Amino acid sequence: TEPVGGGTGGTSDGPRSVTVRVPAKVNVQLAVGAARPDGFHDLANVFLAVSLHDEVTATPAEALTVTCEGPDADKVPLDRTNLAARAAELLAARHGIAPDVHLHIAKDIPVAGGMAGGSADGAGALLACDALWGLNTPRTELLDICAELGSDVPFSLVGGAALGTGRGERLTELPVGGAFHWVFAVADGGLSTPVVFGEFDRLTEGTDVPEPAASPALLEALRTGDTTALAGALANDLQAPALSLRPSLAATLAAGTDAGALAALVSGSGPTTAFLVKDAEAAKAVAAALTASGTCRTARTATSPAAGATILPD
Ligand code: C5P
Repeated sequence: TEPVGGGTGGTSDGPRSVTVRVPAKVNVQLAVGAARPDGFHDLANVFLAVSLHDEVTATPAEALTVTCEGPDADKVPLDRTNLAARAAELLAARHGIAPDVHLHIAKDIPVAGGMAGGSADGAGALLACDALWGLNTPRTELLDICAELGSDVPFSLVGGAALGTGRGERLTELPVGGAFHWVFAVADGGLSTPVVFGEFDRLTEGTDVPEPAASPALLEALRTGDTTALAGALANDLQAPALSLRPSLAATLAAGTDAGALAALVSGSGPTTAFLVKDAEAAKAVAAALTASGTCRTARTATSPAAGATILPD
């Protein structure tokens, strides 16, 4: 090939690599409707981004490859089922280019924990590849690709707080009037989201499942930043099926409320459990008590809301 401007054959314009930071989420309300003909469930899903993050770095490579570091890295699939890899493939296909990129995931979000860690990596890879390849894909198109990747992926891009309807992918951003403090108890092993939805179907069989709707009291608690009101309004329809599949989570929930948490619930499809607390000091105390209780693998403190997927400066 012709050397360009005496170049070395590498691209001289684009960045060498792009790193994107992406938050985890907790569902402060997860109202689940009856199974639809396509197998998905209509939801009223109130997402809140929390300050546990993965970082995805995209670097030019000969072919699409994925690596992962972090305490749970061995549980992350590195093949094309990884949402980060799928994001690169979908974006490249849209633009008729090859997805030749190395994606490195620095993982801090619990794996298969109900905190949208895989979705975070999908949104992070999408934004990183878009910047690395200089595509400037419009935001609405990025959100479409996110929705194709999975129901929770659009929220990982947007962050903050949002109401997800449909299967959770149609987002309306929500105002949040203050910071909330959380403790997350990370369980041993994961729970599969489809299996938990299947258990919801089994437990609700023969009953009249109401149309899912967002709780006005919960939206008001978010808007005003009222921790006590939020504690009273937390609700997760996947909690009963998660507990049915993993009865030991009841002891974790009890350990957190015994230690002074204002409220406890299963995060999304679990098995991570979430504890809303008054302030940073209470968070430390509840995290220490949860760790000492022996009912979880580890406990993490975090605050919300957190920003959505963000490109980090070099
Ligand atoms: O959209 P996503 O790929 O993350 O969904 C994973 C699985 O979770 C789906 O295959 C389905 O079994 C279940 N699901 C559901 N209803 C939703 C979202 C997810 O039943 N609204």
